Parts: sequence; structure tokens; C-alpha cells
Amino acid sequence: MDRLATTFTGLNFVNPFILASAPPTESKRKILRAFEAGWGGVVTKTIGLHPVENVAGPKTIYQRASDIKPYVSRMKREDTVSHSSWNWELISDQPLDIWLPDLEEIKTTYPDRMVIASIMAGAGNDEEMENWRKLASACIDVGCDAIELNMSCPHMDRKDMGANIANDEEIIRSILKAVTSAVNVPIWVKLTPSTAKLVDAAGAAYEAGASSISLCNTFPSLPLMDPETMKFEVEVDGLVTSGGLGGLAILHQALQRVSDISKAFPDKAISGIGGIRGFREAFNFIVHGAGNLQVCTAAMEEKGSGGVGVDLIQELKHDLNDYLERKEYSSIEEIRGLARERIVEHSKVRRKSGNYNGGYSLAS
Ligand SMILES: Cc1cc2nc3c(=O)[nH]c(=O)nc-3n(C[C@H](O)[C@H](O)[C@H](O)COP(=O)(O)O)c2cc1C
Repeated sequence: MDRLATTFTGLNFVNPFILASAPPTESKRKILRAFEAGWGGVVTKTIGLHPVENVAGPKTIYQRASDIKPYVSRMKREDTVSHSSWNWELISDQPLDIWLPDLEEIKTTYPDRMVIASIMAGAGNDEEMENWRKLASACIDVGCDAIELNMSCPHMDRKDMGANIANDEEIIRSILKAVTSAVNVPIWVKLTPSTAKLVDAAGAAYEAGASSISLCNTFPSLPLMDPETMKFEVEVDGLVTSGGLGGLAILHQALQRVSDISKAFPDKAISGIGGIRGFREAFNFIVHGAGNLQVCTAAMEEKGSGGVGVDLIQELKHDLNDYLERKEYSSIEEIRGLARERIVEHSKVRRKSGNYNGGYSLAS
């Protein structure tokens, strides 16, 4: 029995693990290597029509935790473990006309693996809506299986792009209207976790035709400053800006966001992202309702794999299969969403005494 195979948003995945939109999926070479290693799919590094210009310094750093000081730092030290990635990298700098033949070759070489094209344009006028349509149609015409709309990039000054638009239900609907009118494939929408209106944004996206919500992109955050040198651990000319935290450090927050969406829309699909390094983290996303799992930082950090997680995917597949077999589950669908009803309001959790009034004891 093939316990790893899943159907998600109508697409057949040989296993539920895919590489998230990021450096591991930034080129044909890396994606082919990832498929050779066994990943079930990829979301391409986000493709746009606007040229990008990255910062004049490192785009990503890896922060590690240790028992000795400094506890969290990018500094190379003995006996550290991965804590997080921090990045301020923009979307792909490879233009669409280079991507298209590459995507076609990738799909022809690995027809059984799912290729989801991540795309991004602006908002607020017909020209930008046409850009979304153009990007989506071009990627689907060369064989991509689905589209992921990037409404979550945290590194944009432009107010009509990335995470800046994920609070605006009208814009979410208008982009989905444009894209669903252009292509007839599953549309995933990647939202930013950094909004108090996440459930509303997801609701608007589902209602406007999204097949799935992808959660989470990185969390807006700052790198640390060294008290001795007064330098940030990453900076350009002494300056830094809000970048994105990924990796283990965001796992629990990502699970909470996925749980919120899953509880609000139990029948809808969710692709879980944020801090997955092994089976246990993946398991947690599944029991909160995710039917597909995306990985970025852990794959990038794996040494000797060219940053695509060659050993990681073997381990993920082995450990998930072993678990399903031992517990006699036929697929992840049998455990998906199992934790949903156990996430409740504070008042539903038993108290030491019966006196609880939404935050304070009635007796006090
Ligand atoms: C260097 C870097 C670049 C990224 N670029 C993109 C991107 O172009 N588009 C996108 O949707 N997400 C991008 N992401 C976010 C990841 O896809 C993912 O959502 C995030 O890193 C959380 O997953 P993780 O904890 O497994 O790293 C990027 C992340 C990193 C670290």
C-alpha cells in the first residue's frame, strides 16, 4: 500500500512534502535535483514581471541557539543547533522568459511531480490585474500544475504588493477574479501570518476561488545587534529593515495560524509551512488540518545537498511512512485535522475551581 500518496486540491502527490517558494526552488538545476532526491513537488521561487534589485549584502542568515552565550546568533560556535533563518531576499531575479522553457523541461522530465508556479504582481489597476493573468497563463501553458499567489512577501515597500495587500479583502478578491478568469487550475494563496485579519483574508480568498491557503510566509522580524560592535548581525552600511524569520523559531506560531484557518474553514485545504525539519513538525501541521507540507529553511541548511534537502526528504518520507504503517493508517487523510476540536477558547479549559470569568477568578 502506498501510504505516502495524497490528493491535494485535486492534484496527485507522490508524497505530501514539497519545497516552498524560496532559494531551493530558484532554478531548474535545483528543482531537478530536488525531484531526483524525492520531493513530491515544488512551489517555484516567486516569479514576477517587475525587475528586482536585492540588498548589497547577504540576503539570508542562519541563526543558531546554544547553551552558552550568546544564546542566539549567526556567529559560528561549537555545539549549536538551528534556531531560524532571517532573510530580506526579494522575489526571483530570473525573468519570466527564462523561467518558461525551464519549467517546461522540469515537467517533461518529472511528469509525476507537482510544479506550482508562485507568481506576484501589483494591485489597484487593470494593468496589474493583466500582469497576474499574464504570469498565470504563461506558467500553466508550459505545464505547471497549479499557481500560488504570493500575497505575503514581507520585504516590499510598494503598498500594492506582497504582505501589504493581504489585509485588503477587496484586493484579494480582485486578484483571484483576474487569475481564475485566465487559468483553470488549482489556485493556492500564500498569506502573511502578520495580520490580525488572517481568517477574514483566508475567507475572502476561498470565497473568490482559492483552492488552498498556504501558511505561513516568514514572520516580520529584526536581526540582533551585537552590544560590543554595535553592528546588526546583518546590515548594509549600518542599516537594516524588517526581514522575515523562518525555521524552527516560527513553528508554534505557524501552527496557531493554520489552526485558526482550519477551525474557521474545516472543509477547505491548507498547505502548512513554517519550521518543518522532520516528521514531528509535519505531523503537527497535519493534525491541525494541513493536507500538504512545505519546507524551506531546513532544506537550505542541509550541508552537501546544494540547499535542496536531499537527506531531509528521504528522512521525512521514511519517518512518515513508518508512523502511518505502525499506527495502521492508510494515508495522512486519516489523521488530518484530528487536533481541530481540541483547540478551544480559554473558558472551555477546566479550571482548578469553577470560578472563571474570561480571564480572572470570580472570587477575586
Ligand atoms: C531566503 C528566503 C527566500 C524566500 N523567498 C520567498 C519567495 O520568493 N516567495 C515566497 O512565497 N516565500 C518565500 N520565502 C518564504 C518561504 O517559502 C517559507 O514560507 C518560509 O521560509 C517559512 O518556511 P520555513 O520555516 O520552512 O523556512 C523565502 C524564505 C527564505 C528563507
